[in-house]
Amino acid sequence: MIKINDNCTGCGLCIADCISEAISMKDGRAQVERPCIECGHCYAICPVDAPEIPGVDMEDVEEINPAEFVDVKALLHTIKGRRSVRQYQNKSIEKDKLALLFEAGRYTATAVNYQDLRFIVVQERLTEFKELIWNGLAVMAEFPEKNPDIERYAGHLKKKAKDPADDYLFRNAPAIIFIVTDRLVDAGLAAQNMELAAVAQGLSVMYNGYMVRAANMVPGAAEWLQTEGRLISACMLAGYPDVTYLKTAPRKKADILWK
Ligand SMILES: Cc1cc2nc3c(=O)[nH]c(=O)nc-3n(C[C@H](O)[C@H](O)[C@H](O)COP(=O)(O)O)c2cc1C
Repeated sequence: MIKINDNCTGCGLCIADCISEAISMKDGRAQVERPCIECGHCYAICPVDAPEIPGVDMEDVEEINPAEFVDVKALLHTIKGRRSVRQYQNKSIEKDKLALLFEAGRYTATAVNYQDLRFIVVQERLTEFKELIWNGLAVMAEFPEKNPDIERYAGHLKKKAKDPADDYLFRNAPAIIFIVTDRLVDAGLAAQNMELAAVAQGLSVMYNGYMVRAANMVPGAAEWLQTEGRLISACMLAGYPDVTYLKTAPRKKADILWK
């Protein structure tokens, strides 16, 4: 449970901003009355670092400087300019660049502040993982009556049978990132932030719905990935793009109702 230390001046900012309504004023000082979702707003808003949140790393707290936020024009240009990339350079992604993707994922909003996301990057053992998936799909295809979803992979398996070097499912990407959580919206939000962090570093990703389904259904894949019983909710191929887009892709007009 969060504690308020002696730094508290009783300004009340944390009380007004607490979603759990867990803080009250007593004798001119804030005090936490009951367990809350530990969203950290009380700490983020406090001018004197009075709230103490157990079990989190305070080392990586940053002072916020709104002047350093990316401006909306640059942000929109990045959003419009990012593309799902299906051609990658034969080049590994540096660990420090990947770490920034996970930083973007970690700081994403999560329902009830669950922060129940596991990020798995498969890069060093990608060949092993690919074999697991391809072999698993091939075995499942032998028993279509037991595995109705395997039909979706008929085309992939056919291409692979014709050309064993075919990598249609993985697109020769040097890395695959999985997000494991039973909370699909949390996974989607984290994935989008991670894509933007990738693009900001010269990388590209491609959401791979086929890989999500395959990783969830191929026997042994979830264990190999160490999902610990949770759903594989998002998957992104990732790498340095081997393609250059000169323009943004046209989009339908937004369906907006102004009421
Ligand atoms: C949840 C999700 C799953 C996707 N799955 C695949 C996939 O399995 N294979 C693929 O080639 N593209 C996949 N995509 C990429 C979409 O086809 C792509 O976003 C869309 O065509 C628009 O292109 P853009 O992302 O370059 O703007 C997926 C996208 C999302 C959001």
